[in-house]
Amino acid sequence: MSFQSIPKVELHTHLEGCAPPAFIRGLAAEKNIDISGIFADDGGYAFRDFDHFLQVYEAACTTLQTPQDFRRLTMAVLEETAAHGVVYMETFVSPDFCGGGDLAAWKDYLAAMKDAADEAEAKLGITLKGIVTGIRHFGPEASKPAARCAAETFGDFITGYGMAGGEMVGRPGDYAYSFDMAREAGLPLTCHAGEWGGPSMVAETLRDLKVARVGHGIGAIEDLALVDEIAEQGVVLEVCPGSNVVLKAVKGWTDHPIEKLRERGVKVTVSTDDPPFFHTTMTAEYEMLHRTFGWNEEDFATLNQTALAAAFCDEDTRARVAKRLEPAND
Ligand code: ADE
Ligand code: ZN
Repeated sequence: MSFQSIPKVELHTHLEGCAPPAFIRGLAAEKNIDISGIFADDGGYAFRDFDHFLQVYEAACTTLQTPQDFRRLTMAVLEETAAHGVVYMETFVSPDFCGGGDLAAWKDYLAAMKDAADEAEAKLGITLKGIVTGIRHFGPEASKPAARCAAETFGDFITGYGMAGGEMVGRPGDYAYSFDMAREAGLPLTCHAGEWGGPSMVAETLRDLKVARVGHGIGAIEDLALVDEIAEQGVVLEVCPGSNVVLKAVKGWTDHPIEKLRERGVKVTVSTDDPPFFHTTMTAEYEMLHRTFGWNEEDFATLNQTALAAAFCDEDTRARVAKRLEPAND
């Protein structure tokens, strides 16, 4: 079975987190920014743990300074992602890294990303949609301009609102204002929870932020009543196993709860999160799911149908992508 050629839907990536290290090194050299400390001897990103990962991530982002940088980044990311069979991708984009939350600046960055996405769609047959993201460890106040940017630019390219960053900062309810603003503007919602927090963090996220999808959500496994509730309510988990293994949110692949969650009826999807940081690709994720849990072609077909049904895109796009998932189009 060629895992690479399976047409895939990927819902949980961070645009800056998909930046190949060579791309970031190139930008740093162009701009004379010294971020040599974030790279390992092999040229990859180097970090000790999750908090350090966030610091390295933000240091890499200092090289991304203009809409043109984001245009180039978007194209580089889509070329890499399409090479692994991904036909539809959602990516978290953050006004904090694109003009510091200023709406006019955000629109310029967005236009550049959309431009690249349109070009990649025509050239590579991959569709990209953006989910505006607040950064949790920047605090509840900083997430308000991000939500406003989301509300003001919701449309063809921006299709959702979410929150990433340090999960153990504050409680989900502290961020309700931003999620309410985005919901009132009509945006579908997702939030990172249960990557580091336990079941109570996932339960509060569902209760206080009323999200349709949860980023990671694996901490729910410690409370089977909550798992059953998630299954009954049809909440979709954006699971990123390779990320969880490298960041040590789980002990290893065999300990990853994705299979238990799936067996209990939870709608699970699979994504790479920040692939170059975690030395992963969608092909590698599928290979490991096959090797660890025996997932086969049929399991992957179901996985992609679940992801497509949960995608935040418009119905025309969903129908178009559904055709790309048909076996005849392999
Ligand atoms: N930002 C980028 N990757 C992330 C992750 N795995 N968790 C939280 N925030 C992130
Ligand atoms: Zn993530």
